Formats: sequence, C-alpha cells, structure tokens
Amino acid sequence: MKLKMMYSFLNSDINLIEKKLEETIQPESLLLRQASRHTLQAGGKRIRPVFVLLAGKFGQYDIHRMKNVAVALELIHMASLVHDDVIDDADIRRGQPTVKSKWDNKIAMYTGDYVFALALELMTNIENPLAHKILANTIVEVTVGEIQQIKDKYRFSQNFRDYLRRIRRKTALLIAVSCQLGAIAAHVDESIHKKLFLFGYYVGMSFQITDDILDFTATEKELGKPAGSDLLQGNITAPVLYAMENCEVRKKIEKVNENTMPSEMEDIIQLIKQSGAIEKSISLSDQYLKKALTILAELPENRAKKALRDIAKYIGRRKF
Ligand code: IPE
Ligand code: IPE
Ligand code: MG
Ligand code: MG
Ligand code: MG
Repeated sequence: MKLKMMYSFLNSDINLIEKKLEETIQPESLLLRQASRHTLQAGGKRIRPVFVLLAGKFGQYDIHRMKNVAVALELIHMASLVHDDVIDDADIRRGQPTVKSKWDNKIAMYTGDYVFALALELMTNIENPLAHKILANTIVEVTVGEIQQIKDKYRFSQNFRDYLRRIRRKTALLIAVSCQLGAIAAHVDESIHKKLFLFGYYVGMSFQITDDILDFTATEKELGKPAGSDLLQGNITAPVLYAMENCEVRKKIEKVNENTMPSEMEDIIQLIKQSGAIEKSISLSDQYLKKALTILAELPENRAKKALRDIAKYIGRRKF
C-alpha cells in the first residue's frame, strides 16, 4: 500500500495543511522567498503533519486548531533539513539542489532560521504553555543532537549508547513530539498523549536507523538525496557499529578520515555489507518498531490508530 493511501480519510485536511504551508512562507525579501519556497516545493513525505493530525483524532479534533501545530512541525523539520544539508555538505535533497548548493551556506543558515521562526509564530495560536515548553525543548535537543554528531565525527571509539542518544535527539524526538502536540492540541488526556509520545519516539528511532541503513543500501536516485556518504563524512551509524564488532573490518573502517577519497570507500562499504551489519541493523530497527506497535495497542481503537499502525510498519521498512 502507498503511504498516502494509509490516511486517505485525511485528504482534505492534508490539502489544507499544504495550502497553509504555502501561505505561511511569504517573506518580502525575494532571495529569502526563493530559497525558503524552494525546499517546500521540492515536496517530501510530510510525515510529521500526518502524525500531528492522526494524534489529534484521539481527542477533540478541530482542523483550524490542529493545522497550526501540523504546519509548525513540518516547518521545524524543513528548517532542520536546510541546516542539516550545510552540516552534511549535501547537494541534493528531495530530488532537487539543496539551498546551500543552489545559493550558499550563509543563505541556507538564515533561510533555516527564518523557517524556524515562522514555526514558533504559528504555535502562538496554541494557548497551552505545555505545548510551547515541549516544542522549545525539542528544538534544543535536535540542535544538541546535530552538534553532537559533529563532535562524534570519525570518533571510532563511540558505542551504541552514543549513537542511540544522538538519533533520539536529532530525529526521534521530533516525531514523538509531533504525536504528542497533535494530541495536546486536541485536549487529549495526559495518559494518552504520553503514550502517543512514546509511540512516536519508537517509530522515530526505527525511522532514523532505516535512514542510516538506506545510506548503505539505496541509491541517490531512489532516495532523492546523496547515498553512501555517511561513513565517508565520519558519521558512525548502526551498520558501521555492527561491522566494527569484527576486528579485521574494524581496522579498515578506522582508517577512514577527512582525506579518504570516495573511490577508496567502495571496498569498505562492501565489507560492511558482507559482515551481516545490515541484517543486524534491520533487526534493531524492527525491535523499535515492535515497541511502537506494543504501545499503540494500548490506545483506544479508531481509524487513526489503524493508520498509525500502517504508517509505523511502512516507515520501519521503507525503501526510500
Ligand atoms: C529526513 O526526513 C531526515 C531524517 C530524519 C532521516 P524525511 O525522510 O521525513 O524527509 P522528507 O520530509 O520526506 O524529505
Ligand atoms: C537527519 O539526519 C536529522 C536532521 C535533519 C535533524 P540525516 O543527516 O541522516 O538526514 P538526511 O539523510 O540528510 O535526510
Ligand atoms: Mg545529518
Ligand atoms: Mg543529512
Ligand atoms: Mg541520512
């Protein structure tokens, strides 16, 4: 089943979110306008707004309140991507040139900041201080996660705890909070919005582990973004950590540094693939997915719950 088919009952609301995204990003400055609308128009799965809306279905769902949160979460995600492509020196995103490559790093930095600020402005329509506390904390954590990744580059002594803490911050939290804030905006009880948070957190972990596997197994064409560059850039992810359990493979991986040429990576990537590291990473992603489904099973039965179950499964096994 296609991702969009899993929540087709939300179609008109998703269209509204798309319109509101367009309306929100209207800076006066021409350059800022071109740069900020560029990433928006390149598309993307819009998975975070979908989580917001589905979580809202567990409470008093009013699309005119929900849409502020849904759009804000996509904007925060977008801003973090624009910045991430500067950090990762990535030229392609969503099948299009990134802001940093079409313009430059400086423009990407303030385009990201601008989009972040728009998200905060939209959130002022939500009167619950808890929502703002959660969101502010999330932005802090995502930033810390991205900075941690810079600090951990080429640090081959790092362990799984370091990796899991990093992906929790840079990816899982934003998905967790999409679920939780969607629920809070719909006045859902604390016991339920906490479970939705946990569900999103486990899905988010599975999502990033899959993203890290795809960097090894998929192509740029399939992903719409560069593949095979995480390790070359010193980003040590689940497949690398598993492969390093073998001493011989570890010795070769540890030689990778800033001056390694992409052509030298081919053998190492082959070694990692043959070491069983991909299978182990898939199993790790599956463990998180299972935890997500266990939490979800505790929530009241409704159409949104079924959609969340389908999306979670899709995300854990996505191919792009
Ligand atoms: C990409 O997120 C960044 C990660 C957290 C892995 P998505 O895969 O949701 O990106 P888009 O929005 O669909 O482009
Ligand atoms: C995504 O990490 C995390 C954030 C955007 C905060 P990646 O660097 O793996 O994302 P992609 O692969 O560029 O989408
Ligand atoms: Mg990155
Ligand atoms: Mg990146
Ligand atoms: Mg990635």
